[in-house]
Amino acid sequence: MQKPENNSIVIFGASGDLTHRKLIPALYQLFENEQLSDDFAILGVSRTEYSDTAFRDKLRQSLIENEKVNEGILEAFLQHIYYQAIDTQNVNDYAKIKNRLVEINFRHNCQHNVLYYLSTPPSLYGVIPECLAAHQLNDESEGWKRLIVEKPFGYDLQSSIELDDKIHQSFAEHQIYRIDHYLGKETVQNLLVLRFSNGLFEPLWNRNYIDYVEITGAEALGVEERGGYYDGSGAMRDMFQNHLLQVLALVAMESPAVINAKSMRDEVVKVLQSLHPLTPENLEENLVLGQYTRSKVRGVELPGYREEKGVDPQSRTETYVALRLTIDNWRWSGVPFYVRSGKRMPTRVTEIVIHFKKTPHPVFNMNAPENKLIIRIQPDEGIVMSFGLKQPGSGFKAKEVAMDFHYDSIAEGHLFSAYERLLLDALNGDATLFTRSDAVQAAWKFVQPILDYKAGTPKIHGYACGTWGPEAANKLMSNSQREWRFPCKNLTDTNYCEL
Ligand code: BG6
Repeated sequence: MQKPENNSIVIFGASGDLTHRKLIPALYQLFENEQLSDDFAILGVSRTEYSDTAFRDKLRQSLIENEKVNEGILEAFLQHIYYQAIDTQNVNDYAKIKNRLVEINFRHNCQHNVLYYLSTPPSLYGVIPECLAAHQLNDESEGWKRLIVEKPFGYDLQSSIELDDKIHQSFAEHQIYRIDHYLGKETVQNLLVLRFSNGLFEPLWNRNYIDYVEITGAEALGVEERGGYYDGSGAMRDMFQNHLLQVLALVAMESPAVINAKSMRDEVVKVLQSLHPLTPENLEENLVLGQYTRSKVRGVELPGYREEKGVDPQSRTETYVALRLTIDNWRWSGVPFYVRSGKRMPTRVTEIVIHFKKTPHPVFNMNAPENKLIIRIQPDEGIVMSFGLKQPGSGFKAKEVAMDFHYDSIAEGHLFSAYERLLLDALNGDATLFTRSDAVQAAWKFVQPILDYKAGTPKIHGYACGTWGPEAANKLMSNSQREWRFPCKNLTDTNYCEL
């Protein structure tokens, strides 16, 4: 991968959790693997006062505690880090950033290229670009200026349109990088390679051969320390509107003409725009919302969602969502996609299961084995293909067997984490794996009826921590004689599941 031009990276929200858990570790890894530019600087910005040295000390401690670091390399990395305290809401304070950038640019020869990363509460996503522009910090006459915006991009359709308009007043579309970290995952990108570099799957990848598709994004953790944020968001906004719809788009899209930002994102948006619209009438039978309740899991008593810190004790926010949806296009018409996501499930797993139609004439036994392709995004990244073979012994009975491939068997050297990959792409000006404005709006447009429905008093089904969600979600499938796969931590453990 090419090295970016010299640059400075300004992280807003520098004392926050994302900066410490994801951004700085990703930048450190890129530095250790010699992927960053020959010279660069990182300027942390937030409200708390720190000196450069105090900020470096804080990062040093958190990197040593949480990452595998080489001390010599770590010290060299920290020499690129600076800090500036400002009141992010006060436009005059941005003069301090401007001055720091001049000084840093001189010291590190950053060639006036700047990547701004908005890792702040979403309420500041509109304010910061406007304040940067007021000081011409968006001006590209001497070097590029790019802006990474974290999710959530808006709270619903209307607010996402307003936010987009607001940011566009100060930054042009080619400068805006809307990050969805799922697109940075190696195995999510592998979906494209699997589909479009093999002659084997593509001819079958349509309504003629596929019975249904499952997409699961399950987490074992609860809301942890983020109850305050999550209670106003829920699984629909937190996981479904962005991560899972992006994964779905990669499963369903047509082949792009070439792999570049325009071609790829044109195909993604077509899928999102073809999702069959949800209405109050069809939602009742296609949507299940759930919330986890107190339960003992592996000997540990876990609190219910309503008992979590920052959560309203009467909360009706969903921590689980399952939706049956269809895509109105030539390829997918009539094929149901079942998508579910939840917190406090038995294990952490993200996977896609393609269920092929059964043979029309099962001569070998009444119940012909299923042909499935399981694409595991995380953990134990890999693929399993199941089909029928002759059961050894007398007669001609078919038995379901599986062929499996584990991604780690071809991984050589350092594998980029999602944030490493996406930061590097943004530094290189490659927006292929970032979400375009029209795709974000198409996704919000699709989920808006669910948000409206949630605003009433829809049924919220309780499910005990450590289970696969409410019984009602099984009915979504069983009504059509289908069933969810219950995935395990280990891709090929089909008879055992951690409960
Ligand atoms: C984040 C959500 O975007 O994605 C979290 O806000 C969720 O609630 C996380 O836990 C899941 O990401 P990953 O990479 O752990 O699957």
